[in-house]
Amino acid sequence: MADWLAALHRRAELRAKAGLTRRLRPRAAEDAVVDLAGNDYLGLATHPEVTAAAGRALAAYGLGATGSRLVRGSTDVHHGLEAALADWLGTDGSLVFSSGYLANLGAVRALAQPRTLLVSDAHNHASLIDGCRISGAETVVTPHADPAAVAAALSAAPGRPAVVITESVFSVDGDLAPLAELHAVARRHGALLLVDDAHALGVTGPSGAGGVAAAGLAGEPDVVVTATLSKALGGAGGVVAGPAEFVRHLVETGRTFIFDTALPPAVAAGVRAALDLARAGDHLRAELAERAAETVRRLRAAGLTVSAPDAAVVSVTAPGPEAATAWAAGCADRGVAVGCFRPPSTPDSRSRLRLTISAGVPRAEFERALDVIVECAP
Ligand SMILES: Cc1ncc(COP(=O)(O)O)c(C=O)c1O
Repeated sequence: MADWLAALHRRAELRAKAGLTRRLRPRAAEDAVVDLAGNDYLGLATHPEVTAAAGRALAAYGLGATGSRLVRGSTDVHHGLEAALADWLGTDGSLVFSSGYLANLGAVRALAQPRTLLVSDAHNHASLIDGCRISGAETVVTPHADPAAVAAALSAAPGRPAVVITESVFSVDGDLAPLAELHAVARRHGALLLVDDAHALGVTGPSGAGGVAAAGLAGEPDVVVTATLSKALGGAGGVVAGPAEFVRHLVETGRTFIFDTALPPAVAAGVRAALDLARAGDHLRAELAERAAETVRRLRAAGLTVSAPDAAVVSVTAPGPEAATAWAAGCADRGVAVGCFRPPSTPDSRSRLRLTISAGVPRAEFERALDVIVECAP
């Protein structure tokens, strides 16, 4: 084996020894798995109105966008989606990216000037962390959900431009950021607040408008919102929403917008249809909240350590990485897909199962899945 491949092989062996092997598992189009691992929170990925809208745009525009929007042109579908997202989120404007990851990279980099201090929550998603890294700006990582630590970091850099960066619903444990307090701290110090609403959009807030709207911060001039369109909206893509001048700045300077092929129009059209359903989906959110509460109740009653049902992400502590892998595999063997999170994909040394609750899973299957999770527990 060539030297460089032998070196990779040794690293794979070390990961295996630590119980950190990752394997791709096959997925059939018609699999009968009960999905508590994906992020289709409202069950919209397969909704007939969503797939029909995508199908119409597919027929009209073809498979891909064939280029970036600046080069190849900007379709009505993209503009319509951006207007609808801005209206829902209560912002001046929005810009769609081809993924949430690229939206976060673009947003963080665009907010960071040479002297900017980035203040990033310790549990932030990899895309926010990478955004801080590629921005080249000095970054202070503050303890999780700790406005006092954020205030201390900002106080230590008086007179410097700063951006406080957080998720609204954290992706691993599903807990909520103290957004109102973080905003108050940021404003007191003249800093901006960047919130990744990935796991909140469609799930929390008035008409599902997300965590920023739930905190009463929609449209604030010192708040920028990002989100993925791949979770409750069931599609793909990402969005950055905020003041119109900021959106214009992203169009003209955002490398992950300019140098990236646009989101396929068919996906944008499907997401647009999903947005209308999500916005009108209070009944789906009620079902989701009830299921999250029931999940926590049932698993705690079985003696498991479980996070709070703040949104649709519930995490269950596993004794270690191997136990987490075996637990998830046991569930999969019985037809229940759950997320298995082990270091380094966790913000600390704890391994967990991550259950993502969906209102789209038939009720009886959801109930059975909870039984399976308890029965397979280590
Ligand atoms: C909090 C958070 N932000 C951003 C992303 C990235 O979004 P996307 O999958 O659309 O790239 C994810 C995961 O997918 C996420 O959980």
